Amino acid sequence: MGLAPLAGRQDDATTARRCNSGECYVATLKDTTHPRGERVVGIILFHEEEPDQGPPWFQQPHVDSFSQFAVDTNLQGRGIGQALLDTVERRARECGSTELALSMADPDTALKNFYLKRGYRFVEFWKWPYTNYTSAILSKTL
Ligand SMILES: CC(C)(COP(=O)(O)OP(=O)(O)OC[C@H]1O[C@@H](n2cnc3c(N)ncnc32)[C@H](O)[C@@H]1OP(=O)(O)O)[C@@H](O)C(=O)NCCC(=O)NCCS
Repeated sequence: MGLAPLAGRQDDATTARRCNSGECYVATLKDTTHPRGERVVGIILFHEEEPDQGPPWFQQPHVDSFSQFAVDTNLQGRGIGQALLDTVERRARECGSTELALSMADPDTALKNFYLKRGYRFVEFWKWPYTNYTSAILSKTL
């Protein structure tokens, strides 16, 4: 689609910095060929501390957010993404938030439909300084 989200092109140091700024949850798969005996096949980052100015919706005290959400291309469509979303929605409730929000590339209508089916709604547009598209901010009332 010609979209260039930060998470799709950042280096390992940026991934590590972002993961350490919030709560990072991963889905793993047993893999005997891997040195650790398992490999990461999904990731989601809850409550990232964003150094750049974020969208106004994110600034509200009752709103929490997640980012850096992805599942291994070969394992998509098996419920791993839903399980990761379950985790951050539970964590947001535990933290006392009543809204959980995310930022996504507005032109990605298929992805937007995925979130709409899951109970998220559009709240505002936002332009991050490092992306080549306008983002849609979606939010779900918990
Ligand atoms: C979005 C993403 C994390 C979902 O993970 P997943 O493990 O494939 O999700 P699930 O298997 O739990 O999804 C189940 C449902 O969502 C649908 N779905 C998943 N990703 C979709 C997408 N990008 N577009 C449209 N539908 C999608 C599946 O078809 C399935 O629908 P069904 O239950 O009606 O059959 C994964 O598609 C992905 O890594 N995408 C690329 C990165 C990305 O866009 N991340 C979001 C950034 S905001």
